[in-house]
Amino acid sequence: MVRSALFVSLLATITGAIARGSGHASKIVPGAYIFEFENDHDTAEFYKQLNGEGSTRMKFDYKLFKGVSVQLKDLSNHEDKAQKMAQLPAVKNMWPVTLIQAPNPKVEWVAGTNSLPSIQSRDVYPPPTDDGNFPPHKMVQIDKLRAKGYTGKGVKVAVIDTGIDYTHPALGGCYGAGCLVSFGTDLVGDNYSGFNTPVPDNDPKDCAGHGTHVAGIIAAQKNQYGFTGGAPDVTLGAYRVFGCEGQAGNDVLIAAYNKAFEDGAQIITASIGGPSGWAEEPWAVAVTRIVNAGVPCTVSAGNDGDHGLFYASTAANGKKVLAVASVDNQNIPTVFSLSSYKIDSGADTKFGYVPSSKGAEGWKGVTKPVYALTLDTTIADDGCSPLPDNTPDLSDHIVLVRRGSCTFVQKAQNVAAKGGKYLLYYNTIAGALSVEVSSVPQIIGAGMVEDSTGATWIAAIKAGKTVTLSMVALNEATKQVQFADNKATGGALSTYTSWGPTWEMDVKPQISSPGGNILSTYPVALGGYATLSGTSMACPLTAAAVALVAQARSSFDPVLLENLLATTANPQLFNDGTQFYDFLAPVAQQGGGLIQAYDAAFATTLLSPSSLSFNDTDHFISKRQITLKNTSKNRVTYKIGHVPTDTFYTLANSSGYAAPFPNDAVASHASVRLSQQQVTVPAGRSITVDVFPTPPRGVDAKRLGLWSGYITVNGTDGSHLSVPYQGLTGSLQKQQVLFPEDSWISNSTDTNLNPVANGTVFTIPGPGNAGPSDVLPALVVSPALGTRLVRADLVLLSAPPHGSKITTKKFFDTTSIGQPSGSPLLWQSRGPTPISWSGELTDNKFAPPGTYKVVFHALRIFGNEKKKEDWYVSESPAFTIKYA
Ligand SMILES: *[C@@H]1O[C@H](CO)[C@@H](O)[C@H](O)[C@H]1NC(C)=O
Ligand SMILES: *[C@@H]1O[C@H](CO)[C@@H](O)[C@H](O)[C@H]1NC(C)=O
Ligand SMILES: *[C@@H]1O[C@H](CO)[C@@H](O)[C@H](O)[C@H]1NC(C)=O
Ligand SMILES: *[C@@H]1O[C@H](CO)[C@@H](O)[C@H](O)[C@H]1NC(C)=O
Ligand SMILES: *[C@@H]1O[C@H](CO)[C@@H](O)[C@H](O)[C@H]1NC(C)=O
Ligand SMILES: *[C@@H]1O[C@H](CO)[C@@H](O)[C@H](O)[C@H]1NC(C)=O
Ligand SMILES: *[C@@H]1O[C@H](CO)[C@@H](O)[C@H](O)[C@H]1NC(C)=O
Repeated sequence: MVRSALFVSLLATITGAIARGSGHASKIVPGAYIFEFENDHDTAEFYKQLNGEGSTRMKFDYKLFKGVSVQLKDLSNHEDKAQKMAQLPAVKNMWPVTLIQAPNPKVEWVAGTNSLPSIQSRDVYPPPTDDGNFPPHKMVQIDKLRAKGYTGKGVKVAVIDTGIDYTHPALGGCYGAGCLVSFGTDLVGDNYSGFNTPVPDNDPKDCAGHGTHVAGIIAAQKNQYGFTGGAPDVTLGAYRVFGCEGQAGNDVLIAAYNKAFEDGAQIITASIGGPSGWAEEPWAVAVTRIVNAGVPCTVSAGNDGDHGLFYASTAANGKKVLAVASVDNQNIPTVFSLSSYKIDSGADTKFGYVPSSKGAEGWKGVTKPVYALTLDTTIADDGCSPLPDNTPDLSDHIVLVRRGSCTFVQKAQNVAAKGGKYLLYYNTIAGALSVEVSSVPQIIGAGMVEDSTGATWIAAIKAGKTVTLSMVALNEATKQVQFADNKATGGALSTYTSWGPTWEMDVKPQISSPGGNILSTYPVALGGYATLSGTSMACPLTAAAVALVAQARSSFDPVLLENLLATTANPQLFNDGTQFYDFLAPVAQQGGGLIQAYDAAFATTLLSPSSLSFNDTDHFISKRQITLKNTSKNRVTYKIGHVPTDTFYTLANSSGYAAPFPNDAVASHASVRLSQQQVTVPAGRSITVDVFPTPPRGVDAKRLGLWSGYITVNGTDGSHLSVPYQGLTGSLQKQQVLFPEDSWISNSTDTNLNPVANGTVFTIPGPGNAGPSDVLPALVVSPALGTRLVRADLVLLSAPPHGSKITTKKFFDTTSIGQPSGSPLLWQSRGPTPISWSGELTDNKFAPPGTYKVVFHALRIFGNEKKKEDWYVSESPAFTIKYA
């Protein structure tokens, strides 16, 4: 009992674990630990204690982090051993190694797949964009900084990711001194999965794709698609932390950050993370130290927007870490293959189409008239029902069908039933996408054209004319990138962008940047170019903006840069994925708003801090201050005001559980009193303005209403600055984080974590013999809200096996035989986490066969683990284990 309680309190103050993506597990690598050393202590004692019982995963010999991560050999005894080593005077901190999943942006389009031409062999006509016209750059004023000659020249930007394909012609084509990718390392090797020991080498080449896309967003050189990265004259460092597949340990991420820092990186960016919401998680702690040492660090906010409020991701959730949310591109890039049409015997006119995956070859030499299923260009369900009996034989036509209502395949089947072989869909919006109809073998050629192209043809047919298409097959067609106006969500926060704040009410994210539908480089072997969507894409564009602003201001001070970016950003209106509303997106979704790099670079009034949090009702802060510093010589007067937005509910109505996106909003907002409403600040001086909020009325505190808005500072010179603020109506401390029904038993091989029937019998391999493919009981706990500590205790329900001596332990009212290996869980987000249980206990013994229940205790937010009333309890159904 004593030892195990010590384990809990030790870990509770110093350790971290990462809750995994999609609401799933914080995966701990069994037997792997990070030990941070006290600088002034001899570590010989540490290695003596280790005594060959463990192998070194990573060595941390860094200014800001000294220590080692080790893989202990004896897995039946590892927690005990780690515990003892943590007591040594040389050891300052001990954390289990936990895993972060590789990032998962949505791949919208990839060049070169499906027998598309290789990047070298085909011209793009006409060059679609000049430097200044690339839509994401215009959205954040990078175009204006570039027009003034800022290119990030000489700035060292480290990219922590899957590596970079530096052989790519648009990424310099080489690696090392004098190359665009000039520094970095591979910390893990191709075969690294997260669980095995990393095998570092010096070659950070990318085999996965993600890092190459990220690198191009920062620094791509001009190419046949016509775009460049945001800061094309920086020099990139590639720090590879993922193998070709799999996950990365937090020890690897901590090492990568520290290595990049010591290699002289001036900006470090990582589009990596997993749900947590706790700034004390060790990777977040390591990044915060680097920011405090003067290096700005940008980290993607996460792609879990569908989970709603309070779903911040680590390491973005770290203090002073610049967490970047994603905004949808104003213009969606579509790569069209050009063909031509004529109306009656008129002139050939070019049009673009996006071929389906199987249509690449099928369109070769096809010249046929168009047959439109209807002439109504607003029809919702064109081709969704079997075509009428009087439909002619369609085999000698190119059939035109409007997108919508039913699947592309259903439409293709109906067309094929009337003999159709060639099929073009026309879109309901601008742009087009690649459709998949390969399951309909009769269709030889398929593809999509834009809404406007379809409308042009149908108007001609309506007028009694014949529209004839001369198709050029994919391989021969000239390619054209078109940027289609994204009216529905352009400039809006992407629905997938993860919402803050943290469980301790720190404002997250800080800022937003375009991340939806971003064209960039991709590994040559994977096609060379791709369009991806994710906060993974928003983060590197922000890193590029930081490089340009730092160059313009000759300062890399992270606090200054964060203040400038957040206070000059443009807050965007709320959008639920289909339409805009007349109120701003809340601070928990967009931070300060869409960054405006030019304004940040040339602001002469420095507004700080980057955000204000008034905490929750229990810890309400009635006054905070903003500061204006005048560095200008020109006469300006500032008016200070307040633009609130709606209050968003965290929890579903009459429920203790979080609601998914889009959360209910109430048109009620805080009122704010300011100590001054108009200021003129003497040259070189600062003034502070007090901000006194009154929380909104009519908000149901039981649902945890997050209120937010912007303190606005408008100058007579036309400048607009703002500081985002937030507060919570409700009590995080009193809110139940675990309900009785929040734990269950599932099957360790079931990734959906469905509960098994009460009393399920698991026959598991004998003690110490379980492998990853064995079906074990998964002890699942699913906190309703975040909790920094969850422990599991096993209660034996059946009679102890004959002759066995059971020693019991007590944790408050629970009498158990001990905790399963893997308990406790630390720094949890909300949602289910399984502990796959092989029968092993934390005290290195194995539980006797028998029937058990698990009693989970989860610590309330701001709770004290010594107080019984600060723990919530959930008991699992019964299950039985037998050893094979
Ligand atoms: C990677 O793993 C494979 C399969 O486990 C093995 O055959 C190969 O030798 C490993 N490669 C390296 C570089 O370790
Ligand atoms: C809110 O109050 C709690 C308890 O005092 C504190 O731990 C936390 O840091 C506060 N959060 C903010 C943003 O001030
Ligand atoms: C900054 O100082 C200058 C010089 O005294 C003054 O003209 C200007 O109005 C001041 N700006 C602000 C924002 O107070
Ligand atoms: C500042 O400008 C914004 C945007 O134009 C406006 O919404 C806000 O009310 C203005 N604030 C003041 C104090 O004039
Ligand atoms: C919330 O639920 C209560 C009772 O279940 C109901 O009376 C109330 O109308 C609901 N409120 C909203 C906003 O749906
Ligand atoms: C666990 O799931 C596997 C398939 O994933 C199934 O074959 C097995 O019967 C299940 N076992 C139990 C105990 O539910
Ligand atoms: C589950 O099984 C246990 C023992 O096998 C039994 O005591 C308990 O009543 C059962 N619970 C339910 C809800 O059926």
